[in-house]
Amino acid sequence: MRKVDLKKLLDNLSLEEKIGQLLQVCGYYYEIEGVVTGPQNSAGFNEREIASAGSVLGIAGAERLKKIQKNYMEKHPHQIPLLFMADVINGYKTIFPIPLAQGCSFNPELVKKCAEISAMESAAAGLHLTFSPMVDLVRDPRWGRVMESTGEDTYVNCVFAKATVEGYQGTDGLNKKGRIAACVKHFAGYGAPMAGRDYNTVELSERTLREQYLPPYQAAIEAGCSTVMTSFNTLDRVPSSANKKLMRGILRDEMGFEGMVISDWAAIEELINHGVAQNRSDAARLAIEAGVDIDMMTTCYCRNLKELIENKVVDEALLDDAVMRVLQLKNDLGLFENPFKDADEKDEKTLILCDEHRAFARKLAAETMVLLKNEGILPIPKKGKKIAFIGPHTSRRWICGVWSIFGEEKDVISLEQAVRNKKIENVTFSTGCPILKDTDALELAEKDCTAIAEDNANKQVLLDEAILQAKNADVVVLSLGEHPAQSGEASSRVEPALDAQQIELFNKIYEANPNVVVVLFNGRPLVLGEIFEKAKAVLEAWLPGTEGGNAVADILFGDENPSGKLTMSFPRHIGQIPIYYNDFKTGRPYTGNKGKYFSKYIDCPNSPLLPFGYGLSYTSFEISDVMLDRDSMTCKESIFASVRVKNVGKTAGKEVIQCYIRDEVGSVARPVRELKGFHKVELQPGEEKEIVFEITEEMLRFYTIDMEYKSEPGKFTVWIGSSSQTQNGREFILI
Ligand code: GLC
Repeated sequence: MRKVDLKKLLDNLSLEEKIGQLLQVCGYYYEIEGVVTGPQNSAGFNEREIASAGSVLGIAGAERLKKIQKNYMEKHPHQIPLLFMADVINGYKTIFPIPLAQGCSFNPELVKKCAEISAMESAAAGLHLTFSPMVDLVRDPRWGRVMESTGEDTYVNCVFAKATVEGYQGTDGLNKKGRIAACVKHFAGYGAPMAGRDYNTVELSERTLREQYLPPYQAAIEAGCSTVMTSFNTLDRVPSSANKKLMRGILRDEMGFEGMVISDWAAIEELINHGVAQNRSDAARLAIEAGVDIDMMTTCYCRNLKELIENKVVDEALLDDAVMRVLQLKNDLGLFENPFKDADEKDEKTLILCDEHRAFARKLAAETMVLLKNEGILPIPKKGKKIAFIGPHTSRRWICGVWSIFGEEKDVISLEQAVRNKKIENVTFSTGCPILKDTDALELAEKDCTAIAEDNANKQVLLDEAILQAKNADVVVLSLGEHPAQSGEASSRVEPALDAQQIELFNKIYEANPNVVVVLFNGRPLVLGEIFEKAKAVLEAWLPGTEGGNAVADILFGDENPSGKLTMSFPRHIGQIPIYYNDFKTGRPYTGNKGKYFSKYIDCPNSPLLPFGYGLSYTSFEISDVMLDRDSMTCKESIFASVRVKNVGKTAGKEVIQCYIRDEVGSVARPVRELKGFHKVELQPGEEKEIVFEITEEMLRFYTIDMEYKSEPGKFTVWIGSSSQTQNGREFILI
């Protein structure tokens, strides 16, 4: 087992060899199968640069990566192994629900296990690092990447950032089998692009950035996250990859991050587009000075750093620090001892998509789904009903998120297949309408465009068949939503809603048979409009992954009781966006009072259609009034707030008890309420449990008028309930 003296190794490297460690090229350059997840650079890399690169992204497979590593090591003069990185965002081959769905589970233990399985499968396939978790706070469903986040709440994003990092990395060493390094992204504030348009300018006050956007990155770092990725956006007009104050001042000096920083794809070269760099040399200087270690997919570093250092424009010490962080990561992964780490064809065969992983994926998917409406039509009895399953997601397998780059549709269980697996009788299946218009498909969903073109060519036939089946059924299960390519990176939508042909399908089916259950397969909150009013039930299934069809069928037929809660608000109207629960009162708060001069719309209520923390169950729960063990506390004390929760229904179920706090008066305006804790509790019919939250002074801290992070004495309100709209509250005083 080779032990290596990193300092000595660094000192033996030439300038070119050091710079090579800071270059990352995609697997495409090692062979055609590499997945390309960003714009192809005009520059292109020459053979020497590819041979010197220190890491590769977007390629996987034990045999393939072992071959690449072996060839590389044989040629590398200092035997420094390659790092293999990729976007394992919601699973490697066993695809799990998208992260936005995972957040709705309010079950960090399950999400941690999801990351563990993702790590095991991808490590067996030779990967060393995943560009996950994405912890960007999101409040605008026009932005396609909300599907990669766990939602609009800082506390929830902190909980899942920790769970995911620990799931990927474990806590006993990256070199342990089945562990991969995590990379928290995108630092920072990428989730708040103006107008929801990807890569657009971000305007956040420092207080909002620090209070609401930075904590989840901090949580990931405190969980031991090995690496950080810079974001494409500007903050206060400075692009992150050139932002010394952000990357060195805040990330390293304040947040204490000591690991490797990698740019996002081409983000260093894009400093030129931002207009803060004259050319690639300027961009390289700005980025290395800001503390960006690895240059993903551009020639800025590999073709300019040498001259910048030789001309004393850049201090070689900056280069040495960056290279040392890369070498340290390789050493932490044990790559100097074993460059192939866990790459193992046998493990691939036994681990990938094994029954245990599939069963877990099915369980997790069911826990992420949110029952938005149910007028008693769900669960559907397994016998005695004629059921028409209609919709573009019914029989096709496009129910995994767009970042499921290594997943294969052939492994996915569609809703139709799941219903057949359950041997439900008297069922019919039809597509009803194309998932996308032809033109959209060509641009968006190239791999599915043949199927979509067929559906567009048979539109009338599809519709007629669906209407006939609806007329002959007792219940219609109508699967609607988005094609996976309509969310994710570079997939912003000005109208986050169902496409026109799906709305037409709903109306025609509803006319034929009003007993309609809508199942939504989508990557973002959608404006649902009349469909939500008319449907007898609405189940939000998100993009649930390999076992998604089974999970939906489990819920539809009552084998699973839905327990998900929304982590992102559903607007009534697009005009309300951005809309989120923890906003501010304003000087003219509107609480339904009569009169004109209040902060409200004249054509729409202020409230969302469906709020953060909302979700129904097949059973019902009663929550007692909030009890406090005391009404006041000093900074050194805490208050215990509790409720009793009882399952007053006929089936076992899980409820997410949420604890919100409002600081009634502060030296700056404070949010109307903020989530400070939650417990997901399972109760049998008739069972009752006490749920207790400890309120500590630390929970009450914020950035005061002087930008000091501390609490201020005064009156607070604590609410405990089953959504962000709970009014079940009590006041207390911080002395
Ligand atoms: C993309 C994404 C980033 C991803 C990276 C590598 O542009 O912004 O989230 O990890 O490139 O694929």
